Amino acid sequence: MKVLIVGGGGREHAIAWKVAQSPKVEKLYCAPGNAGIARVAECVNIGVMDFEKLTAFAKEKEIDLTIVAPDDPLAAGAVDAFEAAGLRAFGPRKDAAILEGSKAFSKDLMKKYGIPTAAYETFDSPEAALTYLETADMPIVLKADGLALGKGVLICNTLKEAREGVRTLMLDKQFGSAGNRIVAEEFMTGREVSVLSFVDGKNIQIMTSAQDHKRAKDGDQGLNTGGMGTFSPSPFYTEEIDAFCREHIYQPTVDAMREEGREFKGIIFFGLMLTEKGPRVLEYNARFGDPETQVVLPRMKNDLVEVFEACIDGTLDQVQLEFEDNAAVCVVLASEGYPEHYEKGYVISGLERFENAKGYYVFHAGSKFDEEGRTVTNGGRVLGVTAVGRDLKEARAGAYQAAEWVEFDNKYMRHDIGKAIEEA
Ligand code: AMP
Ligand code: GLY
Repeated sequence: MKVLIVGGGGREHAIAWKVAQSPKVEKLYCAPGNAGIARVAECVNIGVMDFEKLTAFAKEKEIDLTIVAPDDPLAAGAVDAFEAAGLRAFGPRKDAAILEGSKAFSKDLMKKYGIPTAAYETFDSPEAALTYLETADMPIVLKADGLALGKGVLICNTLKEAREGVRTLMLDKQFGSAGNRIVAEEFMTGREVSVLSFVDGKNIQIMTSAQDHKRAKDGDQGLNTGGMGTFSPSPFYTEEIDAFCREHIYQPTVDAMREEGREFKGIIFFGLMLTEKGPRVLEYNARFGDPETQVVLPRMKNDLVEVFEACIDGTLDQVQLEFEDNAAVCVVLASEGYPEHYEKGYVISGLERFENAKGYYVFHAGSKFDEEGRTVTNGGRVLGVTAVGRDLKEARAGAYQAAEWVEFDNKYMRHDIGKAIEEA
């Protein structure tokens, strides 16, 4: 088979690495890819939102399967564009990707179908939001309705902060049109867990659990980022919690989407909070998580291409998902200053150390080749260093050891990824 992956970050590198192992795959392309992905796929310089060029390329190369990985093209209808061109693509269509693309949609869906989540109100005007806030309980969480790179969520401790939040989202439009509508949500406390799943429209199969670290600095301080590191499995995601979520969250979500005439095929990523009252959905994503994928796929035994095909064909009930009985930790090596201002273009050294190191992986998030063919930094998140181990402790020690193998100017990482494990 000829396969095309759309995307160019750490998640796509992990997917490409896994897809390349499938005996079914004879040729792998990635658009646009990056310097790490170039080791396992032929990178093609087409942007993820350029559907015309992407579909033309897929037709010309007779691509058998395209995997659309990032949220923006999914929400904008990339899979519909491929299908309209007579091509096979993995991922939710536009009408289903709305599960992530609109927080108001997902909250209304959960309310309608009784899926546990925080209480909320939706506002289309700043005046209405401000009036509501006058008498609301604090802290409160304000969320831009649309896609905002995971950053459109404000936790407001006081009425003053909440008023400023409305200004930031709805008037200053810090996240553009994503903030035309906002959701104001009850503040919850508890541990967060990410659960990824494959969905074929009707059936759902859960992968293993993971936990992300979204804040930029140690001790969960600093700004929200795309994710600074992950571990899998989460020791807090017990069998009892899993059973509850299967009954009240996972299958009910798939059924609700079908009921709404928005059959979901692809990946659903459940962002959960384990509250005192039980698990609650924080958010849905309609795609693999980044950097959750970098700890989940190295533990997966199945041929990923076979599972993707089963999702498209509606035969996921015939697949038996299998994961290694081990653990993985991913530490993100970022550019100092991320997620705000940072420099790019620094040479990355030491990558060759990973070549023959079994159980150690370096997934590139923001890298490219410079004019001299050297691999240089090209983003806020630069690399994701993953190590697997018999247990989380071993994996954590391995990931931090391997994080020292690579060097580049302005290298920055958190030092407490997976530290929570010690409390489990
Ligand atoms: P989201 O993009 O909706 O997952 O929100 C980003 C982050 O904000 C989450 O990972 C949580 O840490 C936090 N968050 C979101 N909603 C809530 C809530 N209702 N209560 C407490 N924290 C929240
Ligand atoms: N790591 C969180 C996300 O992919 O949205």
